[in-house]
Amino acid sequence: MAQVHDFEQLVRERNSTRKFLDKPVPQSLLDKSLELAQLAPSNSNVQPWHLILATDARRNRLTQALLDAASVSDPNIPPLPDTYKHFRSELGRELYGKTMGIARDDKAGRAAAVLRNYDFFGAPLVGVVCMHHELGPPDSMSVGMYLQTLLLALTEHGLGTCVEVSIAGYPEVVRRELEIEDEMLILCGVAIGYADPTFPANKLHVHRNAVEKNVVIHRN
Ligand SMILES: Cc1cc2nc3c(=O)[nH]c(=O)nc-3n(C[C@H](O)[C@H](O)[C@H](O)COP(=O)(O)O)c2cc1C
Repeated sequence: MAQVHDFEQLVRERNSTRKFLDKPVPQSLLDKSLELAQLAPSNSNVQPWHLILATDARRNRLTQALLDAASVSDPNIPPLPDTYKHFRSELGRELYGKTMGIARDDKAGRAAAVLRNYDFFGAPLVGVVCMHHELGPPDSMSVGMYLQTLLLALTEHGLGTCVEVSIAGYPEVVRRELEIEDEMLILCGVAIGYADPTFPANKLHVHRNAVEKNVVIHRN
């Protein structure tokens, strides 16, 4: 991924990386990105984000434990309300169908692709994003603002990322392997590393709604 410095270009450049190179993330780039992400706004400046990162042996232990868990039971992820389900179908068609060439009826192919979530798509640096369980929706917004700032900072340094709610589907495994305190709510995972430029899905920029679908402006 080319280095980008222009804000619009940076926002447009970021997308989800779903295959990483086996190449470590330089500590200095991670440090700079984490410093920048700390500048995210938050409700009463409580800075509710709690990010646990793992590399090397710890990363491998976590991913193995998640893959083992995924081989015996489905993840515990709240289902989408019916009115939103079509978005996931459209993404699946675009990502797995068109870009990765896995037919809809290829159940084994789709399952294998989904399982790659638990290896963080091969990312050498993996993270879990948490928040104290007594905090509420405004605070989870603050965590989201932190995470997007972090993703953009990493993008600026030429790194690929993928946020992964799938990882939160096995909270007891994540908690055990990363020694996360009970009062922390596990919100999602994040995969960080250099994107594999030969993997077509890493170039995918999925469709977005027209602005009017999400924004209402009242004038009188
Ligand atoms: C909170 C959150 C959870 C996500 N969970 C997953 C996931 O479990 N697996 C995955 O492959 N992508 C996941 N994504 C990535 C989304 O599919 C992606 O952001 C969306 O389709 C838009 O594509 P883009 O990131 O390439 O712009 C997640 C993104 C967010 C923000």
